[in-house]
Amino acid sequence: MEEKLVIRGNRKLAGEISISGAKNSAVGIIPAAILADGICTIKNLPDIDDVRHLKELLQHCGAKVHGADGEMTVNSGTIKSHKVDFELAKKMRASYYFLGAFLGKFKKAEVPFPGGCDIGIRPIDQHIKGFEALGAKIKVEHGIIKAKATELVGASIYLDVVSVGATINIMLAACKARGLTTIENAAKEPYIVDIANLLNAMGANVKGAGTDVIKIKGVEQLHGCEHSIIPDMMEAGTYMIAAAATHGDVLIRNVIPTHLESVSAKLREMGIEVLEYEDAVNIKANGRPKAVNVKTIPYPGFPTDLQQPMSVLLSIADGTGIITESIWEGRFKHVDELKRMGAKIKVEGRVAIIDGINRLSGSPVTATDLRAGAAMVIAGLAADGETTIGNLKHIDRGYEGLVDKLSSLGAEIRRIEE
Ligand code: EPZ
Repeated sequence: MEEKLVIRGNRKLAGEISISGAKNSAVGIIPAAILADGICTIKNLPDIDDVRHLKELLQHCGAKVHGADGEMTVNSGTIKSHKVDFELAKKMRASYYFLGAFLGKFKKAEVPFPGGCDIGIRPIDQHIKGFEALGAKIKVEHGIIKAKATELVGASIYLDVVSVGATINIMLAACKARGLTTIENAAKEPYIVDIANLLNAMGANVKGAGTDVIKIKGVEQLHGCEHSIIPDMMEAGTYMIAAAATHGDVLIRNVIPTHLESVSAKLREMGIEVLEYEDAVNIKANGRPKAVNVKTIPYPGFPTDLQQPMSVLLSIADGTGIITESIWEGRFKHVDELKRMGAKIKVEGRVAIIDGINRLSGSPVTATDLRAGAAMVIAGLAADGETTIGNLKHIDRGYEGLVDKLSSLGAEIRRIEE
């Protein structure tokens, strides 16, 4: 039995929705709670599988985790093991944050190579380089990364690539290291600022998050705290693009508009109206958008996580658009699925050339990864006829209440068992 989404397309999305907490913050903040010698209360958590898996991972290590309705309390005082379960770790990318968190707290960690979306090679050499600079010894045995240190000492670390994961992981490990750690060429994503704010609320001394130089002065102890997660810019961006693709009029609430600047700018360039309010954006689209070129760049550039949804909009735009994917070499797997729906796309390496057509036509397709799944949903909403989307495990990892939110905007979408 497999669950599928069935969408009857060609309906304008109209109305209001509210955005949930950011997945990519949540998946760093939950492991970060391990560092506290006290209870952390995390609020505005998205109700998604990645959060459920992290809760299981924490419990499996002995932490006491409670909560419901977007709130979780973590008591890591009862943790008995610094080893992460193999099967659970495989389910998601973010299990690698247990390396930084356990290393920071216990000076030792054993974490299997992580799972997550198949969008490229996804090395973690920069994480390891950071841990080694802090004084940890790392070895890999039977697919498990083993890290150990007698003492962690602050160091100056220059990242060779701008990496969200390495920046967060090094911050976690360095919070309680002796002396000053400097991360240069750090990632600047809002998640990093969110996690630095959590760490500072726990008593850490992290400065410069959101710029490319982060300085962390080690402290002896971290205490419990309360923290509310920022809104999910990728979820918001997905609905912005969905509104545009269906020629809709959607007010998207609970967002931080400055986080979405690159998306808003691109949509405006395509002729779509984007109105920004203090904590909301309103997308108004009439007719076919104009084709544009898009290049994915680390924040504040256009996000790779919205490249696949954007490719759907370009496939029904007026003219030819070019997408250059500069972060993940394998993030065009959804293109074959879009072609089933009539899209005219040619992929050459990291570049996709998209000739816009008038309308997509509904068809059975597969969600090859998380954002590919979101892209298929947008394609189904905009297409003529019926689209069936399989392999929903990816979408469930990252989108809270997708069917309910879209239904409230007038979409004809349901989940079936086949
Ligand atoms: C995070 O992945 C996000 N995941 C991804 O979102 C997102 O696509 C990515 O950042 C880029 O914005 C989570 O936060 C859980 P990176 P991460 O380290 O941290 C190379 C989604 O759709 N690199 O910033 O794993 C790497 O190959 C997901 O929500 C190294 O070479 O990504 C890539 O080209 C998918 N060595 C680039 O850096 C390293 O040690 C950026 O990767 C680490 C990364």
